[in-house]
Amino acid sequence: MSRFSEPQAAAFQALNASLAVDRRLWPHDIAQSRAHARMLAAQEIISAADRDALLAGLDAVEAELREDRFGFDAGDEDIHMAVERRLTELAGPVGGKLHTARSRNDQVATDLALFCRAEAAALLDAVHGLMATLVDVAERHCDWALPGYTHLQRAQPVYLAHHLLAYVWMLERDRARLRFAAEQAGLLPLGAGALAGVNFATDRRMVAAELGFDGVAPNSIDAVANRDFALDLLNACATCATHLSRLGSELVIWSTEEFGFVVLSDAWTSGSSIMPQKKNPDAAELLRAKAPRIVGRLAALHGVMHALPLTYNKDLQEDKEHLFDAVDTLALSLAAARGMLEGATFSRERMAAAASDELIAATDLADLLVRRGVPFRECHGIVAGLVRDAVDAGRRLSDFSPEELRAHSEHLDGEVAEVLEQRSWLESKASEGGTALPRVREQLAAARALL
Ligand code: ARG
Repeated sequence: MSRFSEPQAAAFQALNASLAVDRRLWPHDIAQSRAHARMLAAQEIISAADRDALLAGLDAVEAELREDRFGFDAGDEDIHMAVERRLTELAGPVGGKLHTARSRNDQVATDLALFCRAEAAALLDAVHGLMATLVDVAERHCDWALPGYTHLQRAQPVYLAHHLLAYVWMLERDRARLRFAAEQAGLLPLGAGALAGVNFATDRRMVAAELGFDGVAPNSIDAVANRDFALDLLNACATCATHLSRLGSELVIWSTEEFGFVVLSDAWTSGSSIMPQKKNPDAAELLRAKAPRIVGRLAALHGVMHALPLTYNKDLQEDKEHLFDAVDTLALSLAAARGMLEGATFSRERMAAAASDELIAATDLADLLVRRGVPFRECHGIVAGLVRDAVDAGRRLSDFSPEELRAHSEHLDGEVAEVLEQRSWLESKASEGGTALPRVREQLAAARALL
């Protein structure tokens, strides 16, 4: 029997169906159903024989899904309905007992929480892998100098290890965000029923323990209305992807003929259909472009949640596609970032040539004057005048005679030549977290310790 006398419109069915998206939740759906059946029997809500029939039926359904021979029906609205239909076909009418003391509202929230916990764990592994690669590459290029940039203008020289380690700290914060998201998905929604709780003496803690939750959601209304943990995971994905977009962007720039700092391996580049000389950094470009897509998924779920009255509304069905796409896209991006770095060949010569541009020692010259007691603002002006003369005359700072230097300031003496010798610009940055080699080695050790 049904309360409806007319069939659903085909377009409504197409709009309403979520099976194509949510079918991948099946491992979590089966796991929660097993835990639920065991709890129902332990609480004597169903018999032990019913439980055994349900568990055997769930095993059979799982095997069909795992071996990709599960026959989905045109009428299966979502994965939960499909599993229950098939269970009843295989186990008989007892299959209908599985939904005792359960609603699809707490069921889907539980599947999604399990999904978020599993995916956060997988992403944590992938981020860890990328961090390990960055640390390895940093170690191999510890004292390779290159210019550090602000505004993409040569600013001050740094070591490549120092630059690469910057990404390690960004990824370490991503790990904290992923762990937080997993934690936020740590309270079991199941047992909330449709929204108000259920009419049976269930044991939610037993289900929580079997499924690996940290506890049970304390409010049934919140339990079925809550998708904060999905927003948290999307947020973690969005920030991490944004980090990767900056790495991708740098690899694109560094691999240009103009920079020539790095050559990417063939495995992560493609050719042009018309220009035979080209080696395009597509993967690095896509790291840039995938990030806003993930950020868009986060914004979209915020849109779904915005002003949504409590508790469950069908709007919530739209959480999954955003979440799934974001975690899949980030997983691919992390693998690409790691692969590209593993296969990248850096050019010590090209980076050193760019880093030995004497103009990037301007700050160091100013600091020399500071050490002589000249206020920094004044030093800035003196060195700016010197740089301007050099640029206008197309000369190097080291070509200026002692008299010419003195014309700018009586404090510009023989030590200028020393400051202009490249290594000292790097090794003088010995403040904590700075680019001097002992500091970079310290950082490398700290980064290794994270792993
Ligand atoms: N497919 C639905 C979703 O993903 C499952 C929950 C349906 N609940 C309901 N009351 N119609 O949200």
